Amino acid sequence: MKIIKVKNYEELSLKASEIMVELLKAKPDATLGLATGSSPIGLYKNLIKAYNNKEISFEDVKTYNLDEYCELPREHAESYYTFMHKNLFDHVNIKEENIHIPSSVGSDLQKNCDDYNNLLNSATVDVQLLGIGGNGHIGFNEPGTSFESETQIIKLADKTREDNKRFFNSIDEVPTHAITMGIKNILNAKSILLVASGKNKAEAIYKLVNEGVTEDFPASALKNHKNVTVIVDSDAASLL
Ligand code: F6R
Repeated sequence: MKIIKVKNYEELSLKASEIMVELLKAKPDATLGLATGSSPIGLYKNLIKAYNNKEISFEDVKTYNLDEYCELPREHAESYYTFMHKNLFDHVNIKEENIHIPSSVGSDLQKNCDDYNNLLNSATVDVQLLGIGGNGHIGFNEPGTSFESETQIIKLADKTREDNKRFFNSIDEVPTHAITMGIKNILNAKSILLVASGKNKAEAIYKLVNEGVTEDFPASALKNHKNVTVIVDSDAASLL
């Protein structure tokens, strides 16, 4: 696992976008695994800039997102479908048919998981972008999730709902479940890029770097992958 320490969120977003831009220049038809949340927003802004400067194109890029809340319609302001369109897809020339986000629409969510899993298994993700939860979750794979897990419906940990309530009017509005790629799916990517910013990530980053591999701390599964880069800002790295 390669750890890159930078000063702040701005530098983190720059470094992460340089890695992605380099990949997209070398492989314009790359397949990207994408994340939502606060961590990648700066990176997405930089990708949009690189697209506007004609450094990169999304014409042939395919994307697979990590997760989606259950209980929210796609058009909800806080669905990850909306997040991705607002923060990246609406601003670049990606083809809608090349965008893949788990769907929580309909009554048979297990079928949605299986369909998404089949899609993932037929793809090769060049780089999987990840944030990390304060409790060490990756995707929405909460502590205790099997490292053999594939796309699944997961009950969100209280900590995750608490952390994410900043996006909603109250805790009651935060969904209780999500569909997430499993840890096995995440580890199938050719390379993994994890970004973490802020003091609230310091403990998780300390554990990731210094502690052993255990299903109680999902991000530790990344130690079983050969090509992982972790970019942390000084606050997230403050316990290292
Ligand atoms: C998002 C995701 C989550 C977040 C994590 C950190 O698609 O899968 O694992 O990456 O919860 O969230 P932020 O970046 O908001 O701190």
